[in-house]
Parts: sequence; structure tokens; C-alpha cells
Amino acid sequence: MKAEIVTMTAKEIDQEAIARGGEILKKGGLVAFPTETVYGLGGNALDPMASKKIYAAKGRPSDNPLIVHIAELKALTPIVKTVPEKAKILAEKFWPGPLTMIFEKSDLVPLETTGGLNSVAVRYPSDPIAAQLILAAGGYVAAPSANTSGRPSPTTAQHVEEDLGDAIDMIIDGGPVGIGLESTIVDFTEEVPVVLRPGYISLEMLQEVLGDVRMDKGLIKSDSNVHPKAPGMKYRHYAPKADLTIVEGSTEDVINAINQFVKEDQTNGLQAGIIATEETISEYPLGIVKCIGSREAEETIAHNLYEVLREFDQCQVSKIYSEAFYTPKMGQAIMNRLLKAAGHKIIKVGREEE
Ligand code: TXA
Ligand code: MG
Repeated sequence: MKAEIVTMTAKEIDQEAIARGGEILKKGGLVAFPTETVYGLGGNALDPMASKKIYAAKGRPSDNPLIVHIAELKALTPIVKTVPEKAKILAEKFWPGPLTMIFEKSDLVPLETTGGLNSVAVRYPSDPIAAQLILAAGGYVAAPSANTSGRPSPTTAQHVEEDLGDAIDMIIDGGPVGIGLESTIVDFTEEVPVVLRPGYISLEMLQEVLGDVRMDKGLIKSDSNVHPKAPGMKYRHYAPKADLTIVEGSTEDVINAINQFVKEDQTNGLQAGIIATEETISEYPLGIVKCIGSREAEETIAHNLYEVLREFDQCQVSKIYSEAFYTPKMGQAIMNRLLKAAGHKIIKVGREEE
């Protein structure tokens, strides 16, 4: 099966194509669609067979739960047991938007959708194309990122086509996404809300609204006995084909170290790639150098990360070196994805701070 590709923009939505996409979903088929974070692979969230199809198309382990996407607030109550007060506050503040919340699930949601868990992840995306498709499908669309399991999440319809073009019914091409990293996930099944996956909405933004919010201990890598609570966060996702290493330190030390590594690799007959920024790109004379964005506009780094990783998969490089991006707002989310792509390989260079 070759997916039908339909093109539209958020300003000019093709209503006929949306209606057809909705029908495909209602009949148990799969439709990929844009959201403000990354492209999603949609299936009817209340249909166990559709969820099974999603896992098969992505090659995803079936214990890794899907996010249920809604397009109106009143759709939340039927699929959860209760909505804690603090979750209502976050919904008011950040929905529709790049936030996913986890609740105890109601019987309406099949265990196939939640990977066997009694909780359900719910997201209300702000992208108008996503919203219209969800409504046309009956209101509940399960959608993981529309990549083959283990590849970087798709930020364009072309990425979706590369990975899933032969496995699904329809791809809605709404152009490149806005944010480029998946939604922030907050778990409400325990006393204190816990961030299971950092995203555009940062821990600080959540704390400002709620007070006490914690970061999942499993995300902080120092203790290898503690596992992330979101099953998906334990896999080595977003893995590029080449061996990726992050180099951390002062700008000057990082540039010198990366140039040295690339030179050594070339001496050994290996081609290397470099992930640089607008500010540093001219400092790397060797290797295949790609610009991820500007440190002055950290959202550009978030936006281009997956695209750059995919581009390197098309290059003949066996090693990639990346600068570290501990930027003020999205640094947590960017570094979470980059560290996973690197299998947590990070080299600290230069003198230790006193
Ligand atoms: O931005 C996003 O959230 C995108 C777009 C398409 O909306 N979707 C997305 O879905 O990133 P996916 O399936 O690639 O990631 C879902 C993550 C996984 O890490 C999964 O383990 C976690 O959410 N998750 C889902 N339900 C959960 C639950 N009940 N408890 C804990 N973690 C859950
Ligand atoms: Mg994913």
C-alpha cells in the first residue's frame, strides 16, 4: 500500500481531504498528520485493532503506550477516571498546546492503546489541521510520532513518507512543524506532578503555575538503577546511523577538541560530521559541518535537531561530533533528545571550573 499524500496549510484547510482522513480513521486505517510538535501517526484511539496497526507500522514495542489526542476540552472526562485540580489549571493555561498529561484511564480506552497500563496520556494539540482531523475521526486519535521506531521524529511530511510511506493509508502534508521536539509529558497519577519527558513547556514554566513539580528521576542519568517512568524514554531513540558524541566545555575548548577529533579520524581513514551553530560554523575547517541553528534563537536549534540527524544518515560519515546546547529555556528538552541520540556519550573538555 502506498500512502495517499494530501497537501494543505493551516490557513487553507482542505475540508474534503480532512473528511476523507476522518473516514479512514473511523474504519480503522492510519493517517499521519502535522501537529505543532512533530508529525503524528494517527489511528482511532478507542479501536484496539487500530492501535495494533500503529505498533506494527512503526515497529514499536507493544509495551510503549500511545498518546490519545483530543480536540476539545469536554472530550477529556469520558476517557479518564478523575481530573485533578492541578491538571485543570495546566489545561487552562497550556491547552491547546505542546503538553501531554497522564491520568488514570476509564474503561473506554482499550489496554492496546495504553500498552497495558491503567493510565492514559492525553494531548490537545493546537495545530488546526490536527484539530479538524481529530474531530472528523470522532474525537479520539492515538498518535505516536510518525517515524519508524528508533529513527528521529518527523518534522516534515517527507520524513513521514521516508519511514512509513508504504505502511499507512494517508499522509497530510501541512508543511514543516513549528516546535520540532515532542510535547512535554506531565504525570498526574501520583501526589506531586512529575515531568516524564521535557519539551517546549519547561519545568520552570510548570513550577510557575503549579508550585511543586518534579523531574522524573529516571531522566537523570547518574543512577542507572532508576528507570524512566514513560516506557518510551528508556529506548535509545533518535539514533543516527553514525556514532554520535557530544562535546561539552567552553566554546573555544569545544571547537579545538572537535577539530582535533575530526583530524584524528581522518588520519584513520574515517569521515566525520560536526553539528555546529551559526556562531561557530566557520571555525571548523574539516569534516562535514552542518548548522543546527543559532544560540541567539534557541528555538531554531530545537526545530532543526531531528532534520540534521536525518541529514547525517544520508552522508557517508561514521562519526558525528555535536556541541552541547544547554540553552536557557529549551536546553533541557534539546539535551534530553541529543543525549539519547548519542547513547549518553558525552566528553567534557577543557579545565574544570574551580
Ligand atoms: O508531541 C507529541 O507528543 C507527539 C505528537 C505526535 O503529538 N507524540 C509523541 O508520541 O511523541 P510518542 O508515542 O512518540 O511518545 C509518547 C511517549 C512515550 O515515551 C510513552 O512511553 C509515553 O509517552 N507515554 C504514553 N502513555 C503513557 C502512560 N500512560 N504512562 C507513562 N508514559 C506514557
Ligand atoms: Mg516517538
